[in-house]
Amino acid sequence: MDLKDLYRDVIVDHNKNPRNFGRLDPADLHADGHNPLCGDQLNVTVNMIGDKIADIKFDGSGCAISVASASLMTEAIRGKSRAEFSALHSKVHELLTKHDSTIDPISLGKLGALSGVRAFPARVKCASLCWHTLQAALEHGDHPISTE
Ligand code: FES
Repeated sequence: MDLKDLYRDVIVDHNKNPRNFGRLDPADLHADGHNPLCGDQLNVTVNMIGDKIADIKFDGSGCAISVASASLMTEAIRGKSRAEFSALHSKVHELLTKHDSTIDPISLGKLGALSGVRAFPARVKCASLCWHTLQAALEHGDHPISTE
């Protein structure tokens, strides 16, 4: 099996069996994100211990790429600090958008599977939706969850 097949299998697996799907209740931080190109929405809830992301869940509706990316992100980010999240977010953003990126996808473990998305520019927003949503939660997601 070559790397391309492996990465495709990772995306299929994480779309079919998304990890950390649901909502934390109570949650320290949360945010809703939406992809303006398709209207799909994603919710991220986070519990912090100090500066570390102790627990994270996501839910919402989206395509296979958006669900797989969110599932992979929650696995990769648990236990990480805000600074570690920012560093990983930057790398994933580069992987998704820069064709001349020098980042080796293998160095990112399973997240490397997202490298295939850059061949499909229309899907980059799908893959980055969860990352922007988590960033919003970490920056200003400590307001109460609206029940309306
Ligand atoms: Fe809506 Fe991908 S098509 S998130």
